[in-house]
Amino acid sequence: MDSYSNSSSFLSMLLLFLFFFLSPHVQCQLDYGFYDDACPYLTKIVRYGVWSAMQNDTRIAASLLRLHFHDCFVNGCDASVLLDDTSTIKGEKNALANRNSARGFEVIDDIKASVEEQCPSTVSCVDILALAAREAVSLSGGPYWSVSLGRRDGTTASESAANEQIPGPFESLQNITSKFTSKGLSSKDVVVLSGAHTIGFAQCFTFKSRLFDFNGSGKPDPNLDSSLLQNLQTVCPNVDGSNANLAPLDPVTINKFDNVYFKNLVNNSGLLQSDQALMGNTDTAALVNNYSKYPYLFSKDFGASMAKMANIGVITGQDGQIRKNCRAVN
Ligand code: HEM
Ligand SMILES: *[C@@H]1O[C@H](CO)[C@@H](O)[C@H](O)[C@H]1NC(C)=O
Ligand SMILES: *[C@@H]1O[C@H](CO)[C@@H](O)[C@H](O)[C@H]1NC(C)=O
Ligand SMILES: *[C@@H]1O[C@H](CO)[C@@H](O)[C@H](O)[C@H]1NC(C)=O
Ligand SMILES: *[C@@H]1O[C@H](CO)[C@@H](O)[C@H](O)[C@H]1NC(C)=O
Repeated sequence: MDSYSNSSSFLSMLLLFLFFFLSPHVQCQLDYGFYDDACPYLTKIVRYGVWSAMQNDTRIAASLLRLHFHDCFVNGCDASVLLDDTSTIKGEKNALANRNSARGFEVIDDIKASVEEQCPSTVSCVDILALAAREAVSLSGGPYWSVSLGRRDGTTASESAANEQIPGPFESLQNITSKFTSKGLSSKDVVVLSGAHTIGFAQCFTFKSRLFDFNGSGKPDPNLDSSLLQNLQTVCPNVDGSNANLAPLDPVTINKFDNVYFKNLVNNSGLLQSDQALMGNTDTAALVNNYSKYPYLFSKDFGASMAKMANIGVITGQDGQIRKNCRAVN
């Protein structure tokens, strides 16, 4: 504390501060106060929209968070995931990871309509989605982080890019990690962001192979806790008809955004094979162990990784557009 009252160190702090704000090598034109003048109530509108949707359907928080992830992993954060198919655009809603799975589009439509009422043609759909994901986490009891703004909406979408770039639950940790690093994210981000699976649900077909005949062994996955296995076999009986049944990704605190996902992994209680795989590598397992013990560390790192993810391949300035309707290009 003493050093802060020392005037020469105060001067160096001041210089550091000025340097930071006058620094010319700004990476992109995103800005925390981007809509402060043009749409001052934006954050409140988004928070209220997410909150009201959650009053009817708690799971919607998880669905909105995932939608933001699926947007950012396909040609950058550009709201491409929100575009409906047209005769010229084969969109992402029907990609493998999204069809009969991605949810929350109506909530974004409703929020966008309220935002348009207050500030027409001002706020991009991609920024609304990034804010909605943050509010969803926060309203589920998770961390709050600053979201820089000023992204512009893209004018294309790609079903094939979505099929290639969104990681799948049967992929190896190595393959998933390379999908993250190809987006400028790290192996640490894989672990941190997988913590999103502390809320929400998965359909049986995304993990059923672990329950009955793992990798052709005729036996369940040995890395799945036996009492969880029994419960899951009840939810997902070994018949095709159970494929769309739902199980919580974190059965201990289903709708609460906390670090219990990591505690579950330590207990062999990860739902997806790709979740439990984080314990199969020394480096990622060490991080999982730390997050299972230190909830604050997870909260802090989650916000930082989300901010990184929200900057993937963003469109700024005069490029792209501000969509009027999130489902269609203007
Ligand atoms: C690391 C690779 C990842 C894989 C393999 C993966 C895979 C999956 C799968 C298979 C589901 C279930 C979908 C369904 O059954 O319909 C799911 C759900 C979910 N994922 Fe991921 N995911 C990954 C990373 C992420 C990330 C980075 C986030 C967000 C930051 C995220 C957020 C979610 C959420 C919140 C749900 C629940 C959605 C709901 O209930 O509607 N996932 N994920
Ligand atoms: C309430 O949630 C259900 C899904 O659980 C959804 O089908 C329905 O459209 C929602 N109703 C409103 C008014 O948002
Ligand atoms: C990993 O990626 C390679 C190359 O794309 C692919 O051939 C392989 O099947 C993938 N393996 C798993 C387990 O995902
Ligand atoms: C994990 O296992 C420990 C010790 O067996 C137990 O105390 C704890 O409740 C378990 N945690 C979860 C999330 O199941
Ligand atoms: C986990 O925490 C320990 C103790 O705080 C630290 O020494 C270690 O570097 C951490 N490991 C990882 C992978 O973060």
